[in-house]
Amino acid sequence: MMMQLKEAITGRRSVRAYEERPVPGELIRELIGMGICAPTASRMQPWAFAVVENREKMREWSDKAKELLLGRMADNPYLRQYKAAMENKEFNIFYNAPCLLLIYGDTASPNHVVDCALAAQNIMLAAYEKGVGSCWVGFATQVCNTPEIKDALGVPGDYRPVAPLILGYPRGQWPPVPRREPVVFSWIK
Ligand SMILES: Cc1cc2nc3c(=O)[nH]c(=O)nc-3n(C[C@H](O)[C@H](O)[C@H](O)COP(=O)(O)O)c2cc1C
Repeated sequence: MMMQLKEAITGRRSVRAYEERPVPGELIRELIGMGICAPTASRMQPWAFAVVENREKMREWSDKAKELLLGRMADNPYLRQYKAAMENKEFNIFYNAPCLLLIYGDTASPNHVVDCALAAQNIMLAAYEKGVGSCWVGFATQVCNTPEIKDALGVPGDYRPVAPLILGYPRGQWPPVPRREPVVFSWIK
């Protein structure tokens, strides 16, 4: 039976440990298809995708990402909480996942960030329904905007990375991350 939407929304977790086996290409395509069903400002659909199924390359890019992030610590207090992880040679920002699905946004659209984020959430929920774990890896955003990586992926200069998503079959289970009570400033009737 198909999973209930509520179950997908409440059951999805960011997955940080993966099995070796790859996600079938057809399934990755299906997930991209789910992504592009997201709402989009002015129907601009400013998203484009790149898929990397190469753990070695991802490890290499992870090392570069950590270096870039360490370089930004001095003037970015927010990042300092991650200093130890970034200095840890063993830490892979992609958690050894078998697949990196990148969503790039066309900067010609003023809403490309929001639109691509909506596509990303569709993909993460649809993946969960298929038993595929995911995690949005914000640590990868900067490195995926470097000319070197954009060239390697064939991404034009006017596209920016919005959502670097890792995908794969989860190893283990994760307890839910508690949510704060939502702040509702007002409810005018
Ligand atoms: C914009 C964004 C960036 C994120 N970046 C990272 C990241 O770099 N590494 C990571 O492990 N998790 C990352 N996450 C996952 C969050 O840590 C996770 O969503 C949060 O802890 C709540 O857990 P849940 O997704 O399991 O509900 C990111 C999530 C978002 C939305």
